[in-house]
Amino acid sequence: MLVMIPQLVIGLIDLTAAFLFMYGLQRMSSPATAPSGILVAGVGMLAAVLASFLYAFSVSAAAEPHLFVNVGLALIALIVGGGVAWWSGKRVAMTAMPQMVALYNGMGGGAAGAIAAVELFGGKSQGVAQLGVTLLGALIGAVSLSGSLIAWAKLDGVIKNPLRVRGQQAFNALVLLATLAVGGYIGFAAESGADPLIAMPVLITLFFGLALVFGVLMTLPIGGADMPVVISIYNAFTGLAVGLGGYVLQNPAMMIAGMVVGAAGMLLTLLMAKAMNRSVTNVLFTNFGEAPKHKQGAIKGSLKPVDAGDAGIFMRYAKEVIIVPGYGLAVAQGQQKLYEFVKLLQAAGLKVKFAIHPVAGRMPGQMDVLLAEAGVPYDLIFQLEDINDEFANADVALVIGANDVVNPAARTDKSSPIFGMPILNADKAKKVYVVKRGQGKGYAGIVNALFYGDNCDMVYGDAQAVLVKMIEAVRGLGTAAAA
Ligand code: TAP
Repeated sequence: MLVMIPQLVIGLIDLTAAFLFMYGLQRMSSPATAPSGILVAGVGMLAAVLASFLYAFSVSAAAEPHLFVNVGLALIALIVGGGVAWWSGKRVAMTAMPQMVALYNGMGGGAAGAIAAVELFGGKSQGVAQLGVTLLGALIGAVSLSGSLIAWAKLDGVIKNPLRVRGQQAFNALVLLATLAVGGYIGFAAESGADPLIAMPVLITLFFGLALVFGVLMTLPIGGADMPVVISIYNAFTGLAVGLGGYVLQNPAMMIAGMVVGAAGMLLTLLMAKAMNRSVTNVLFTNFGEAPKHKQGAIKGSLKPVDAGDAGIFMRYAKEVIIVPGYGLAVAQGQQKLYEFVKLLQAAGLKVKFAIHPVAGRMPGQMDVLLAEAGVPYDLIFQLEDINDEFANADVALVIGANDVVNPAARTDKSSPIFGMPILNADKAKKVYVVKRGQGKGYAGIVNALFYGDNCDMVYGDAQAVLVKMIEAVRGLGTAAAA
């Protein structure tokens, strides 16, 4: 043994790290404090990683000869992993964030599975509780790894269509049963002493193989459109697997961090499902947004295109404007121009507010982050329940790159895939401008009756380009009118 570092020191650092994770998470609940929350949680992670190196001071005599090689390997892994994460994190576009989350989540599941693999192949797990927890962590971690990778491939367009065949659900259930049976046998044989773990490498490999296949099979039939919810479910899985791994390694930071991630992932899944008015089982076992069974009735009215400049000038002479940002704003990266336009309106004495739908965009909080990036003050940003009644008094609702979240079919059309989803009441405003490039449908793949309404005009074009024209038009009115 080199120097004795009491376990107490490692335990204390781990507990501090766990506290920092929770405090960081709590700060992430508001856009104002989220950036510092991410930093706090990051410091916690750094502390936990550094603390794990302290174990090097108290390794067993048998492990001592391998110490330098193992520490070296851990450092190389840290540098390579950290470097790739830093590089990809800096490069990723806002709209590609869900893919990145899927990929990183898969890595987390894989890491938890790898910890369980070391325990199982090394024959280390002993006792019913530890063996059971290790096997469960292995199963959940492996499913989360392969499932998240399929989710990434779907979101990134590598896999274009969901794969569905007859009897698929029954086949998937059989694979799950086989996985549980092999895992159960491993646990039973090892615990009863009939077969030590170390003598079952083939069965353990089969167990991991089946779990990985189940993750793939479970995710393949789910439509690309439902992937954000699926990733959130896998996020919860990964957290659970890491928490179980923490129990196996008796590492409090891992246990607490895993449970926090697991609980947060599960709550997020439920919130997303609720905001879309769907159950989690409906997401997992029904096809959303593809070949909807419902026949949309004929929509009355017509699409009325208007010039971007004219719409900008109309808004300049209004009193209150509510802006509904959606996925298209993120695609166009129009947030800076949008805030520039808002500042012009404010300078002219208008009341301007932003209305955020809980599932606007493609991931939770995407619109809040987008607006925060442009420097929009938080007191201008309102969530659905806090602003929905105000649309009726607003002169203009400016719907920019949003579609499903303002589709009145959610209120009235029982056969619509979005029926029951709470929507922003943009149609209740005196005037509605919708900025989008053309006839493109939203995420749910349905036509929006709002666009055909008497009070609605369409401003066609890329959101950023349209905003540039609106700004030019208002500025063109001259200083007196613009201020
Ligand atoms: P969507 O309904 O997806 O509509 C986005 C609209 O933006 C499209 O109709 C598109 O029309 C337009 N657009 C695309 N690129 C544009 C650009 N460069 N400039 C201007 N417009 C552009 O978006 P939403 O209203 O934000 O609704 C979100 C949807 O995603 C909901 O159905 C929700 O259930 C679903 N969803 C969200 C989440 C989370 S957590 N946010 C998770 C899963 C599912 P054009 O092609 O004609 O331009």
